[in-house]
Amino acid sequence: MASATSACPSNTDSKKLLWDDETFASRYRTAEGLTGDYALDLLKQMGVSATTPAPVKHLDLACGTGVVAKHAISLLEVANKPASSKDQYNFTAADLAPAMLDALRSRFESESWSIRPEVIKADMRDTNLPADNFTHITCSFGPCNAPNPLATLRESYRLLTSGGVAGWTAWTACGWYPDVMAALDDIRSHAAKASATGKGTEDDEKLAKVPQMQSFRTMIGRFTGIEDLSVAKDEDGEMPKWESDEYFVKQVRKAGFVDVQVNVVNKTLFLSGEDAYEIVKPILGILGNWWSQEERKVLEGGLLEKKVQEWFKKKVEENEGKKVVWDTWKAMIVTGRKE
Ligand SMILES: C[S@@+](CC[C@H](N)C(=O)[O-])C[C@H]1O[C@@H](n2cnc3c(N)ncnc32)[C@H](O)[C@@H]1O
Repeated sequence: MASATSACPSNTDSKKLLWDDETFASRYRTAEGLTGDYALDLLKQMGVSATTPAPVKHLDLACGTGVVAKHAISLLEVANKPASSKDQYNFTAADLAPAMLDALRSRFESESWSIRPEVIKADMRDTNLPADNFTHITCSFGPCNAPNPLATLRESYRLLTSGGVAGWTAWTACGWYPDVMAALDDIRSHAAKASATGKGTEDDEKLAKVPQMQSFRTMIGRFTGIEDLSVAKDEDGEMPKWESDEYFVKQVRKAGFVDVQVNVVNKTLFLSGEDAYEIVKPILGILGNWWSQEERKVLEGGLLEKKVQEWFKKKVEENEGKKVVWDTWKAMIVTGRKE
């Protein structure tokens, strides 16, 4: 198993961001199908609609490939507003990963947006943007991707105008997790059995060393950069539990927000085996970031990817061609207002 110190590369500014990879950024559009659904819930909980009074100045932090801004522009029905009032709607999309920002900019070339957000590189914990400046701030599946999410909440509070609204989403469970765990367990134990007979191939040797999947909680810890959850206490001396709605709400209040609301929303995805695999493929790469050099050999030449692809194919065949059902997506949607 990789040591806890082979941390997620997204977590310090000196290291290359996990997200800052062109292939990952272009594939992220698949994941966006789901985060986009939650973005709609988030914006609605923030009260964004065609009747939202202008001016609107919306900052989307950790914007990824821009799904939140896209939905916000659509919910506000900016396209139907008179041309004279269009400059009353301003969007800024900020992310720390240049590859994500490039993917967003190239999106403007292939899609028609009634307003193009200004795209900027900024750290959600410390943006360098002026205070009291935005009416709406979103950070969808963002805070927990950086160490000290509380800093992100405080920065959002600083940036909001009085009366402004902010909203965040965070996973409490991911739909792909049970299948990825089962796939890796099956692949590992099958290869280990083959190796034990002495007739195993070189590939079996590598596959037998696929690390155990971390618990979802540990993965969240790794995403946040809190590598050892047992020692990384927060300001109150508590264990951070960003995957808990109760904990998240407490931190939002602590950052100064009022009228804090939380909803935990379940969603189910029905996927073909191929689509399920396409979503899982980049996740295998992400997991590999925490594995040792020896363990990562299994990713070379797409060996593990191929096995996982076969695993999903078999799963669908054994289930008489029925869809793969991922019914454990669960995210919390938290919103708050600056007084
Ligand atoms: C799970 S994606 C969410 C993207 C998008 N908001 C969505 O809902 O689909 C997380 C994003 O956080 C960005 N990110 C990670 N650390 C960051 C930081 N410190 N400041 C700003 N963005 C960051 C990543 O580059 C990535 O685009």
